[in-house]
Amino acid sequence: MQVEDFLKLCAVRVDGALETSLASCTEAPSELLAAIRYSLKAGGKRLRPALVLSACGLACGDDTPALPGACALEMIHTYSLIHDDLPAMDNDDLRRGQPTSHKMFGEAAAILAGDALLTLAFQEISRSGNIDAVRELALASGAEGMVGGQYLDMQAEGRTITLDELRRIHAGKTGALITASLRIGALLGKAPQSMLSSLTLYGQHLGLLFQITDDILDVVGDSAVLGKSIGKDQKSGKATYPALMGLSRARALADKTADTALKALQDFGQEADVFRDIAAFLLHRNH
Ligand code: IPE
Ligand code: IPE
Ligand code: MG
Ligand code: MG
Ligand code: MG
Repeated sequence: MQVEDFLKLCAVRVDGALETSLASCTEAPSELLAAIRYSLKAGGKRLRPALVLSACGLACGDDTPALPGACALEMIHTYSLIHDDLPAMDNDDLRRGQPTSHKMFGEAAAILAGDALLTLAFQEISRSGNIDAVRELALASGAEGMVGGQYLDMQAEGRTITLDELRRIHAGKTGALITASLRIGALLGKAPQSMLSSLTLYGQHLGLLFQITDDILDVVGDSAVLGKSIGKDQKSGKATYPALMGLSRARALADKTADTALKALQDFGQEADVFRDIAAFLLHRNH
């Protein structure tokens, strides 16, 4: 199966489970729920849920125990996008091919829709009954993970930083949730320690690859295909790989990072091909 088809298949399952979760919020104000649904159902590649499900599948041959984890990761990711687009942060008008949450509903509702998604994610993953997975999600989402990376990203605006600093920003803002997707899937599938370690290493490199290509696409991508504005990073003086090393060296680093991600899978046979295909997909993606 082509990786795009695999992602679509995961998206259908996860979207169904996400809708079930939203439908259970019967006491929530309907306008707030509409704002949450708007961002969550706007599309998106559903990469993180696919990683959660695939890691669980690799660990135990069945990905159904990972469905609450897959939903939780997509909720945290969507909340991070809503807040990332706010005027106080990247100030973007377009996300997933639609006006951003704050453009549609106003800033207060966008902030609160993000807050609600963050909380709902923990409600969702708690259904797995796996406290290690819950802790993993907390660590990856918070000050030591995504939020910490976002903070450093904002601090770096308009400054020239070192490659090490940039790596730290990307590992936090993007790598943490991607690595956590793999680790949570593995934990929910009761993976042995060696598998958890390999998937962690793979995830760290995949996360970096993901953000290098995100940075490149902000320079060379097509807004209509990406579903978000382009050229914003340079305008905002963002610390990115193309800004720091130029486009061609950034592309070479993406190639090298994809190779390193694949090396982390060397102990696995074809049962791990889905992860190899995802790395290739992220290297060559246009959205
Ligand atoms: C965009 O993530 C934000 C980053 C972490 C760079 P995605 O490119 O996965 O966004 P969607 O989910 O497909 O919209
Ligand atoms: C955002 O990185 C990362 C998170 C949302 C945590 P970017 O700011 O580069 O993402 P895009 O380009 O707006 O999607
Ligand atoms: Mg940002
Ligand atoms: Mg942004
Ligand atoms: Mg970007």
